Amino acid sequence: MFKSGLQILKFAFVFLFVAGCSSNSNTPQPKKSNFSKVKNPQHFFKKADLMQFGVYYYPEQWTQNQWERDLKNIKKLGFTFTHFGEFAWGFLEPEEGKFDFKWLDKAIDIASKAGLKIILCTPTPCPPVWMAKKYPDIYLVDERGRRRVFGDRADISVTSKRYNAFVKKIVTELGKRYGRNKNIIGWQIDNEPNAFPDYSPSAQKAFQKWLKEKYGTIDSLNAVWDGAFWSTMYQRFDQIEIPNTSVYTEDKLSPQAVLDFKRFTADAQAQFLNRQAEILRKYIDPRQWITTNYCNVTYDADPRLSDKLDFITYTMYPVSGRNPLGGQSFRMGSPYRIEEANDYFRSIDGVTGVMELQPGQVNWAPINPQLFPGVVHMWLMHAFSGGCSFACTYRYRHPLSGSEMYHDGIVGTDGVTLSSGGKQFVKAIREMDTLRQLYNSTATMPHEIAARKTAFLWNQENLWDLEIQKQTSYWNTWRLRNIYTAAVKSTGAPMDFVTEKDDFSPYPFMVAPAYQLINKALVEKWTRYVKKGGNLILSCRTGVKNKNGHFFEAKWAAPITSLIGAQVDFFDMLVPGVTGKIVSGKKMFSWHTWADILSPKKGTEVLATYANQFYKGKAAVVTRKLGKGTVTYIGAESNNGELERQIIRLIYQRAGVKIEDLPPGVFVNWRDGFYVGVNYTNHAVKLSIPKESKIIFGKNPLKPANAVIWK
Ligand code: GAL
Repeated sequence: MFKSGLQILKFAFVFLFVAGCSSNSNTPQPKKSNFSKVKNPQHFFKKADLMQFGVYYYPEQWTQNQWERDLKNIKKLGFTFTHFGEFAWGFLEPEEGKFDFKWLDKAIDIASKAGLKIILCTPTPCPPVWMAKKYPDIYLVDERGRRRVFGDRADISVTSKRYNAFVKKIVTELGKRYGRNKNIIGWQIDNEPNAFPDYSPSAQKAFQKWLKEKYGTIDSLNAVWDGAFWSTMYQRFDQIEIPNTSVYTEDKLSPQAVLDFKRFTADAQAQFLNRQAEILRKYIDPRQWITTNYCNVTYDADPRLSDKLDFITYTMYPVSGRNPLGGQSFRMGSPYRIEEANDYFRSIDGVTGVMELQPGQVNWAPINPQLFPGVVHMWLMHAFSGGCSFACTYRYRHPLSGSEMYHDGIVGTDGVTLSSGGKQFVKAIREMDTLRQLYNSTATMPHEIAARKTAFLWNQENLWDLEIQKQTSYWNTWRLRNIYTAAVKSTGAPMDFVTEKDDFSPYPFMVAPAYQLINKALVEKWTRYVKKGGNLILSCRTGVKNKNGHFFEAKWAAPITSLIGAQVDFFDMLVPGVTGKIVSGKKMFSWHTWADILSPKKGTEVLATYANQFYKGKAAVVTRKLGKGTVTYIGAESNNGELERQIIRLIYQRAGVKIEDLPPGVFVNWRDGFYVGVNYTNHAVKLSIPKESKIIFGKNPLKPANAVIWK
């Protein structure tokens, strides 16, 4: 029996290995519905408007006799829309089934009369107190078994049937009442959907159901989760426990079980949003759009799964207590945040906006310093340059009480005086008016820029899988993402984040760092892409697992060895105090996090070799020609990203493409006929702006925290 059990497992393993190699993904497909979202959300926004500006206002937090003054002032400053209601459920449904929309009607009316449009939200992060007290099972349960209680937000169980029934009612009421209001331009569902892990009984049940739908039989699940390892196999789906990382550290649990829980959690969060979108869609005018505002750096959620929404926006707080580039950069924030958010969220549906942009000091970071003078304006221009259709800020008034008392607004504690961030918003609003006058609807991307267009292949599942078993505590997937963004953007290339399903052909270049989970279809697609002329750049930790998160029963990273023209012999990582060395050309680079040691095949060129450790002289970076294109494998993560920067620049140059030489922290983007440069560094930087160009705003050399715009 034992023997045959093992045999079954083995058979299932082989079966799933093959299936994992040939199908696109084993994650369940989103549920089918008759509803279809708008195909091209660009039609919601006039291109000639470039970027619109808006600001959050909370009527329920201020006395009614101030609403008119505040909303009129918002309009006077040049904002065109406001944002209401994401936390107002207690006011909208003060008793079970009894709705009160009078106050919201009034606020919407005042805003409309002031000439403002409105983004209306569903209030689902904040259940009212009556619901919390009567039905405590609507809350999520954390990994220690503690159920959340009333008093905070964003802590409900998205899988709770009861909660979803209440959500359906309030969203229906809102849709019916405001879905035809001409002044409501769009809807934000919930707020910053984070996909918190939930261990409540409802999540437990939903997880079992999700697994059953995915695997069909318990044997298939055992095969993927490796139930033979430490006898962790199940006999029935109802025995399955959510893998609990507070009881067992993540690397002690089945990594495949943990990966599935992450997939489930992201999916459950996305379906919670999708369901709300489907309800709204029944009642709203097709001119109103539906979105949500994901955090710009989102680890647990997968924004692409909320695919019933028209487009996805992001929230952005660049300054949060860190000092990314040293010096004064703690007042400017991470240079990669806005850049990556623009490129990531815009790529999902072709449209994005920044829903919350930090207006000044915040209250929630461990340390909340003053911002560098002018940086809010620079962030706005950075958001503009990356294609945002609007920039909205949290919040208009500085709170006088409540949890976020130390949070800046557009106006200060007196409710009328512009803050420094407020003044910078006004400056950007005025400048946008000028840019609109200069807008040329026939402008197309200059050939020189289009020639370096780069696809960044990204799958949130790789992030999860890499973080589950890091293998070295130095590993940080997001840092690696920033390194590749920095290297690509140093060339002045436009960048889109794409998925395996997308067409690779519009991109002369593609980077896919640490693309750990692969299948045969992807390797074939990469090969076709390169043969037709694409330049593919892969990094360490690519191609070592199938989509189930299993290694291949073959040599290390076997499915990609013929593509990259090299064998990954083994990998290494270093302990504190030891520095790895790599030599490329005349330059020496250091590394300590990860190194794949490579043996090139015939015809493959070595671009860098290890310069110390027992494998000194072995290849660290290889490149080869394949058909009309090239494949490059960068086997190490260098300490400051310098190696990646040098190699990537070389590949672009070899492909005959003209590139810029922008230092880390400086970006130049082209949008609608305008060039926009921004500088997150501590030094002024001279950009190569052609003599015949006209600078519209700003100066060259470009000072820290400044933006320059030219045509
Ligand atoms: C965001 C959140 C807002 C507000 C803000 C404060 O993450 O969505 O509601 O709390 O932080 O900075």
